Amino acid sequence: MEILIPRGFLPIGTKLVILGYFEVEMMSEFDPLAEGFDTEIQIETGKIISAAIREYIIDGKEKTAIDYGCGTGLVGLELLDAFKSILFVDSSINMLEITKKKIEAIDADNADTLFADFVDEIPEGLKTDCLFMSRVLHHVIEYEPFLAQISEIINPAGHLIIVDFDEIDEDMPEQEAEIQTSPDSANAHQQSEHHKHNDQHGGDIFHDMHMGLDQTILLQIINKLPFAKAESKTFYHGKKIFRNRDASLFILHAQK
Ligand SMILES: C[S@@+](CC[C@H](N)C(=O)[O-])C[C@H]1O[C@@H](n2cnc3c(N)ncnc32)[C@H](O)[C@@H]1O
Repeated sequence: MEILIPRGFLPIGTKLVILGYFEVEMMSEFDPLAEGFDTEIQIETGKIISAAIREYIIDGKEKTAIDYGCGTGLVGLELLDAFKSILFVDSSINMLEITKKKIEAIDADNADTLFADFVDEIPEGLKTDCLFMSRVLHHVIEYEPFLAQISEIINPAGHLIIVDFDEIDEDMPEQEAEIQTSPDSANAHQQSEHHKHNDQHGGDIFHDMHMGLDQTILLQIINKLPFAKAESKTFYHGKKIFRNRDASLFILHAQK
C-alpha cells in the first residue's frame, strides 16, 4: 500500500516503510496540479517567456541546456530547436511525466527528463552550458545558497537565465477568476475546472513561497557568484498571471 504525503515534511522521493508494511512516498505540491496546468493563459505565458529567453541564446546549437523546474514543458519545449539538447528537470513526477509524454509525442531526440530537486541534491558530475528556470525560484525559500549550488554546474562562459515574477504586495486582493464561456458545455466545464486549478495554483495550496522576487536583491546575490556579468529587466505585464493577481515578469541573465 502506498500513501502520499505533502511536501515540506520530508524531502521528495523519501520512501518510508512503516512496520515493514506501509510504503509512504513524498509528493510535490505540484503533483495534483499537473493535469490541469496547461490552461490557455499558461500556454500563452509560456510562449512569451520562451521568446524572452531565446533572445539570450548565443550559439545554442552547440550548447546543452537544463530547463530547471520545467513543469509541463511549456517553456523548454519551445526552445528545443535552439539548443543542442535540453535536460528537463522537475521535482514533481506528475509534471515531469507530462513533459515526457510531449517529448515522446514529437519524437525529439535532443531532450531528456530528470526527476530531481537540486535544493536537496545535485547529481554528481552534472554540467550544462545554460541553465534556465521559469517561474520556479519564488518557490525556493532559501534561494541564495541554492543559486550558489546551481552556479557550480554551469560550464565556463555558460549562462544562467532566471524568469520570475516581480514582487507583489501580499495584501493585494485576489481577483475573481474570469470563467470563459463556450457554446460547448463540456468545454465550458473544463474551462471552469482549469480556472479552479488556476485558483489553487495561485491560492493556498503552497505552504510556503515568495510573493515574487526583487531583481536588485537577486543581482546582488548573483554578483557575489562567479559570473562575469549579470543584468535584468522587466519584460511583460499580465493580467491575473500570479496567484490570480496582475503581475509582471522579469528576466535575469548572467554569464560566467
Ligand atoms: C509554476 S511551475 C512553472 C513551470 C515552467 N517552468 C513554466 O514556466 O511553465 C513551477 C515548477 O517548478 C517546479 N519546482 C518547484 N520547486 C522545485 C524544486 N525545488 N526543484 C525542482 N522543481 C521545482 C514545480 O514542480 C513546477 O513544475
